[in-house]
Amino acid sequence: MNVVLGVGGGIAAYKAAELARALQDRGCAVSTVMTHAAQEFIQPLTFAALTGRKVITGLFEKSSADAVLSSSVEHIAVAQENQLLVVAPATADLLAQFAHGHASDFLTTLYLAFTGPVVLAPAMNTNMWNHPATQANVATLRARANHVIVDPGSGHLACGMTGPGRLAEPPSIADAVMTALHPRRDLAGQTILLTAGPTREAIDPVRYVSNHSSGKMGYALAEAAAARGARVILVSGPVSLAAPKGVEVIAVESARDMYEAVMARLDEATIVIKSAAVADYSPIAAGQKIKKSGEMMHLDLHPTRDILAAVGQRKGARKLIGFAAETNDLLTYARRKLEQKNCDLIVANLVNQPGTGFGADQNDVTLVTRAGDQPLGRASKRALADQILDAVVALP
Ligand code: CTP
Repeated sequence: MNVVLGVGGGIAAYKAAELARALQDRGCAVSTVMTHAAQEFIQPLTFAALTGRKVITGLFEKSSADAVLSSSVEHIAVAQENQLLVVAPATADLLAQFAHGHASDFLTTLYLAFTGPVVLAPAMNTNMWNHPATQANVATLRARANHVIVDPGSGHLACGMTGPGRLAEPPSIADAVMTALHPRRDLAGQTILLTAGPTREAIDPVRYVSNHSSGKMGYALAEAAAARGARVILVSGPVSLAAPKGVEVIAVESARDMYEAVMARLDEATIVIKSAAVADYSPIAAGQKIKKSGEMMHLDLHPTRDILAAVGQRKGARKLIGFAAETNDLLTYARRKLEQKNCDLIVANLVNQPGTGFGADQNDVTLVTRAGDQPLGRASKRALADQILDAVVALP
């Protein structure tokens, strides 16, 4: 397999050398394209020596060095010779240029000429990553056919900040490349009914009670399942996430809406995954806004229906996967939920760990089945999604 590695200009550029090695270890022949900025961080010679192949450093440049060969039409040749384009680190500027179709240098021109799968591994300062402009560009790119974003990890960044923005580890980028080159279709023929996000239970027309939940884990599962060939119906509570590619999204608000949407579509499903953080109690909503009195206020809450347990009662031949978010006694509660809700698999996570769980891009979960427990360790929600689906496929 011929892979072209685009290297952007960021502190993480040195890790692209490790990525070149990891790709070669997986049987890829790697050609490298470096932006001008990348060459401020790492020498083209490093990639030429590692890969034994040409390194392209500019659109019109001719250099005497054997390692550097380029011509004004070479981006077309490179686009045709390679099966996949991977860009690491993909800087905020590169993401913006790709998203908007600019062709200002070799890499951005190659991107436009390239018709195969594209894997982008962003890395940048946390504030730059969180900026709405970058997030909009990432959403645009994520929605494009054949595009995979390997989300950055969280941690200490070179700029001294802590947060998301750190380049994913080279082996996981290389794994994403291999998956994009050889897409698994092991869920083809399955219909997966997924729930994600929180529910909102109205107190009155302007207030509600809810649970912490960004929906990221459920959306990652939806994206991964669709990529593996499943038809995915995603019943989603209110979240600020873009609909994953190729997934039917049914937007709901309350636990009752979610119950009705799930039950209406249950017959179509061969696999049901309930990652939503459903409110367990709901107030009897007032028709008008409740005016504050300055006194103590009491809310009467009635229990909502447990959707997972209801599906468990109508399970049939379906595979049923639930989640258990706990603060203590994780595995005891998870095993209890497995039995009580008639599930095949419980994805259990402790929600009071720093850097994982609610809203985070990473999670740390243990899979609980009747065959035993399998801790997956800390990883991005997207990587965990594939591991969870591997376990679903392996269920008896
Ligand atoms: N769940 C559901 N409907 C509800 C409540 C929960 O389908 N009304 C599902 C969730 O989607 C999740 C699983 O049940 O898959 C576990 O939810 P959790 O809140 O952890 O457990 P509870 O059932 O609420 O039990 P407990 O309060 O004892 O932890």
